[in-house]
Amino acid sequence: MKHIFANWKMYLDFDETMILTNQLLQEDFNLEKINLAFFPNALSCSEVIKAVQDSPIEVGAQTVNWTPRGAYTGGTSAEFYKNVGCKYALVGHSERRYVFGESDEDTHKKLSACLDAGLTPVLCIGETKEDREEGKTEYRLKKQLMKAFENLELGGNELIIAYEPVWAIGTGDACLPDEVFKIAKFITNEVKQYFEAYAPVLYGGSVKAENVVSYLSQDIVAGVLVGGASTKLDTFLAVIKEIENL
Ligand code: 13P
Repeated sequence: MKHIFANWKMYLDFDETMILTNQLLQEDFNLEKINLAFFPNALSCSEVIKAVQDSPIEVGAQTVNWTPRGAYTGGTSAEFYKNVGCKYALVGHSERRYVFGESDEDTHKKLSACLDAGLTPVLCIGETKEDREEGKTEYRLKKQLMKAFENLELGGNELIIAYEPVWAIGTGDACLPDEVFKIAKFITNEVKQYFEAYAPVLYGGSVKAENVVSYLSQDIVAGVLVGGASTKLDTFLAVIKEIENL
């Protein structure tokens, strides 16, 4: 079973989100081999959940507020997402870290909030171009994991990690599969130092139909987190078809 998670970011408005969702629902996927989840914008989440309710497709939040309720104008809490039927939430996506200025501490609080609310967090980690050029990839990943997991209890919840090198996101410059395998092994070993439970590792960063199979050919990569290519019917269908044929 491979996870295919579609992060629609802020690419699609409400109507476009629903059109894509309904088009995808009309397709006859073999979802026995695939765990498919959509991550729409906050506004569209509950409507997407209603649309997919008779299918095995799951829905996740792109980010959450760390407090269940209160005076947080513009916030949407992990609990709110859970209450409308979300299963997952992305936490610490690089766009949250580097565009919105969220810190490792914010990521930790969000991760904790997801676990408290019963959402499965998809913790995103990844090095920048500078980190990579300075040979600091493992250092960065280790540090992001350490900060995220400080005093954290999984409490029987599932945890998923997405390795998304910042330099590979939206650039067309995908990380080479051998490097992804090496890093996925590194992350798996790191996570073992914190939790007994197995945490699947996904890869994200310029995934498309032409390269998706290369990442999923080894068990160490449990799935992919797809951005741009998941926001158009033809390119996303092409990704799914490749995986169906695995
Ligand atoms: P792209 O697939 O557009 O590179 O985005 C990856 C990503 O950020 C998924 O979360």
